[in-house]
Amino acid sequence: MKVFVIGGGGREHALAWKLSQSPRVNEVFVAPGNAGTALEEKVTNIDLSISDLDSLVTFAESHAIDYTVIGPEGPLVDGVVNHFEAKGLHCFGPRADCAQLEGSKAFTKEFLKRHNIPTAAYGTFTDVNQALAYLDKAGAPIVVKADGLTAGKGVILADTLDQAKSAVQDILQGNQFGEAGSRVVIEEFLTGEEASFIVMVDGTDVLPLASSQDHKAAYDSDVGPNTGGMGAYSPAPVVDQMCHDRIMSEVIQPTIHGLAADGLRYRGFLYAGIMVTVDGTPKVLEYNCRFGDPETQPILFRLKSDLLDLIEAACHGVLGDQIAVWDSRAALGVVMAAPGYPGDYPKGAKISLGQDTEDTKVFHAGTAINGDQPVTSGGRVLCVTALGSGVTEAQAKAYERLKSAHFEGAEYRKDIGYRAVERENS
Ligand code: AMP
Ligand code: GLY
Repeated sequence: MKVFVIGGGGREHALAWKLSQSPRVNEVFVAPGNAGTALEEKVTNIDLSISDLDSLVTFAESHAIDYTVIGPEGPLVDGVVNHFEAKGLHCFGPRADCAQLEGSKAFTKEFLKRHNIPTAAYGTFTDVNQALAYLDKAGAPIVVKADGLTAGKGVILADTLDQAKSAVQDILQGNQFGEAGSRVVIEEFLTGEEASFIVMVDGTDVLPLASSQDHKAAYDSDVGPNTGGMGAYSPAPVVDQMCHDRIMSEVIQPTIHGLAADGLRYRGFLYAGIMVTVDGTPKVLEYNCRFGDPETQPILFRLKSDLLDLIEAACHGVLGDQIAVWDSRAALGVVMAAPGYPGDYPKGAKISLGQDTEDTKVFHAGTAINGDQPVTSGGRVLCVTALGSGVTEAQAKAYERLKSAHFEGAEYRKDIGYRAVERENS
């Protein structure tokens, strides 16, 4: 079989690598891919942009692709799946209507409220004065979010009312995020422990994947600016069996039923960002209509099942027949970023990768290949991933493996997984 992965980050390297392991897969194409996908056996990069939907469909048609898997949210929100399906092609991801769960925070909050799914109290505003009046009433700390897609930069956790008010002004009046900031959502500041709960959905049936947790802040101890994610691990110990069951029954199932009640049929990966509050109630922070990055790397490193089987079943609406089998070990990935990320950073630095082993793998993200030489081409460059008996051992192995991967000025957090490590050792 031939499969096609759209995207060029760490998530797509992990997806392409995992799909290439399937005995039924002869060829994996990735558009545009990165140096990591270029170096994998059976995998070929295709020089097409993820926003050129027509060319992506034409490629899939002319190469008789059996299944296409979409990595990033941009093309999903733009309707890439609608384009593929219009040509009768199998494409795993939600259509544009369902991708609104990530494309508009206001849409999601209204959806959650309508279907009684637990989430932070909120208000939605296009008018600055009304937003400021709401802030005065609600007080700080409080959270201000631009409505649309902002690559993670549109969420402001404001400790003071002044910060919240400037955020509202920057977004609504200063046009900081363009069209994505034509509306703001202001919401209650939740406390607790976060987890990423990612499932596969075939329209009606749900297959939960292993739990995970990522670190969004740039610096150690979870401080500094928000990033796409500086590292992740799986499983997340906060998601014990009881928490898992509550997330399934109080969040995931009502979401699938709610979508159906609204006339929407969700197929694809669905990522619930959950805050497990002090009393154990799981509340939805956000939905993403795709797999997480960097959560995909440790999660797929633990997946023993054939990913093609799962995707094929989901595309045919028979996901209920599948189970996902996991390595009982934990996996942890540390992101090595370009100096300056998440601000401006240089590109083109030579990368030396070192040697992967049975229980370690360096997934690429922002890399390109220059002849045979991998070079940096993005902010998050590599995700050094390892398996261990628990998160503590996976962490030690990932940092040991990281010592033999180099590029000039590489920056990384030294504490990925610290909460899980504290739990394991307490
Ligand atoms: P989002 O993109 O909406 O998930 O927000 C990005 C990050 O901001 C989340 O992963 C949380 O760490 C934090 N966050 C978002 N909403 C809230 C909230 N209501 N209370 C506390 N933290 C939040
Ligand atoms: N790691 C967070 C995300 O994929 O959005």
